[in-house]
Amino acid sequence: MDIQTQYMGRTIKSPIIAGSCGKTNSVENIKKLEQAGAGAVILKSLFEEQISKEASNNAWALHNAGEMVDAYTYIAEHTKNNQLEAYLNLIKEAKKAVSIPVIASVNCVSSTEWMQFATAMEKAGADGLELNMFIMPSNVNVSAEEVEQIYENIIQTIRRAVQLPISLKISSYSASLAKVCQRLSWMGISTLSIFNRFMEHDIDIDEQVIRPVNIFSAPSEIYNTIRWTAILSKLVNCPITAGGGVHKEDDIIKLLLAGANTVQVASALYTDDFSFITKANEKLQQWMEEKHYHHINDFRGKLAIEKNSTVSPFYRVQYMKYYSGIE
Ligand SMILES: Cc1cc2nc3c(=O)[nH]c(=O)nc-3n(C[C@H](O)[C@H](O)[C@H](O)COP(=O)(O)O)c2cc1C
Repeated sequence: MDIQTQYMGRTIKSPIIAGSCGKTNSVENIKKLEQAGAGAVILKSLFEEQISKEASNNAWALHNAGEMVDAYTYIAEHTKNNQLEAYLNLIKEAKKAVSIPVIASVNCVSSTEWMQFATAMEKAGADGLELNMFIMPSNVNVSAEEVEQIYENIIQTIRRAVQLPISLKISSYSASLAKVCQRLSWMGISTLSIFNRFMEHDIDIDEQVIRPVNIFSAPSEIYNTIRWTAILSKLVNCPITAGGGVHKEDDIIKLLLAGANTVQVASALYTDDFSFITKANEKLQQWMEEKHYHHINDFRGKLAIEKNSTVSPFYRVQYMKYYSGIE
């Protein structure tokens, strides 16, 4: 059974990709992920916001110690460059250590930094770049069109700056998600990565404080990913890499049937271990054999929604008795 597929302009040996997370942040782990059978690995994101904050903290410490303003700028830049340098080294070392594609990932909040980071990562040898983009839609002064325009500007800027294949990782927060995804897929990206998952927060009623919860996804999150993969896969102009809630081996097969080209796994690398990938590859091969499929393309997208179709169980969202059987 041939489980090769296409990802970011390359043929990869398995559709299972180690998604960006803490487990993809060291060469040692990246090697283990390749051994476990991952088709590609996406490095932990470099967060512009975080490195700018650290740079600023270091520089303030110096400033408060009575140093000059020039030194403030110098230290801020120095810290930022050090962090970027460490990331570039990770790319270079990972490239030497494994033969699967190594995809860099950036999360930036300004368009100038995106360009600087992307160019440096391309030079370091990354096989592709995943743009982890999200602007919290909480500002009442910014319209949906303005937010979408910011995304488009960033993609355009990076598209011009680098030759690397680009994967755009987006969230499901949009009033018109299908339209936004379709528009963004026309902008020269190689892959649409659905969906980014966000930290969740709870309220502690004893201490009356806010605390992070659910660092890892739950298995039930897969249903939203299946739905949107099926809705989007024939609508967008590029392949889909789907992730979010993949905890069972069968989930990979489901997302391929829904039309994904590749499937990303992050939480399961923590809650299970890297052997999850090995088991899921085996399950995929075994299932293909049972169903007499020789290649992934023999069944990929079989349950995706056809481009102009308005009828699908995936469009149903209300609990009508007729559909759910629940009174
Ligand atoms: C501990 C942890 C760290 C993560 N860090 C990143 C990150 O740096 N960049 C990113 O784009 N996504 C990050 N993610 C999100 C994952 O790549 C993935 O999109 C999300 O967790 C949904 O997939 P899952 O259900 O397999 O976990 C992280 C996830 C986890 C669990």
